[in-house]
Amino acid sequence: KTRVGILISGRGSNMEALIRAAARDDFPATIALVLSNRADAAGLDIARQHGIAAHAIPSRDFRNDREGHEARLHQELIAANCSLVCLAGYMRLLTPAFVQSWAGRMLNIHPSLLPSFPGLDTHAKALAAGSRIHGCTVHLVTEIMDEGPILAQAAVPVLPGDTESELGARVLAQEHIIYPMALRHYLGQPAIPADASNALVSPCA
Ligand code: GAR
Repeated sequence: KTRVGILISGRGSNMEALIRAAARDDFPATIALVLSNRADAAGLDIARQHGIAAHAIPSRDFRNDREGHEARLHQELIAANCSLVCLAGYMRLLTPAFVQSWAGRMLNIHPSLLPSFPGLDTHAKALAAGSRIHGCTVHLVTEIMDEGPILAQAAVPVLPGDTESELGARVLAQEHIIYPMALRHYLGQPAIPADASNALVSPCA
């Protein structure tokens, strides 16, 4: 099985979706390690409850030393024999050096239908734009934020009167479906139809 390291910054619900999927015998990956750049990330406890090694490498301990922080992340991922990284609500931009060392081996989930609405506040942006369809994207990480080859997307409707949080919850439910699905597919196992609801996975993995 491919050993995966997950990077988080907060709640960790996508991390948990990956952990739950990877607990199945037939899943091609195992979650070896969870790292957070914030000591107070709720996801750390959730990971530990699932028996996964999890700890913080606080970015605030590396003020003005982004490379130093990421060198530590890299070291720990390598020490845990990870060969793939999943960003799951990791809210810091990564340096080109880190991105390059994981090129083709680092996935991200983003709460919009990229290339629409990169960056933050994607649900507010979709509402402000009058989008009728919104969603989420799993993609490979490249040096440009929220770019990189798209592996999977799922669409949800924007309903009349939607608030940011209602729309966000509808998207998040899909994130939890497509992230494990995209990971499995990227590792060479076809998606099973039962997963697929309204998600599309790229066949080019
Ligand atoms: C998710 O909605 C994820 O798509 C988003 O942050 C949330 C993290 O939630 N990621 C980004 O915006 C990345 N730029 P989670 O910690 O519960 O998975």
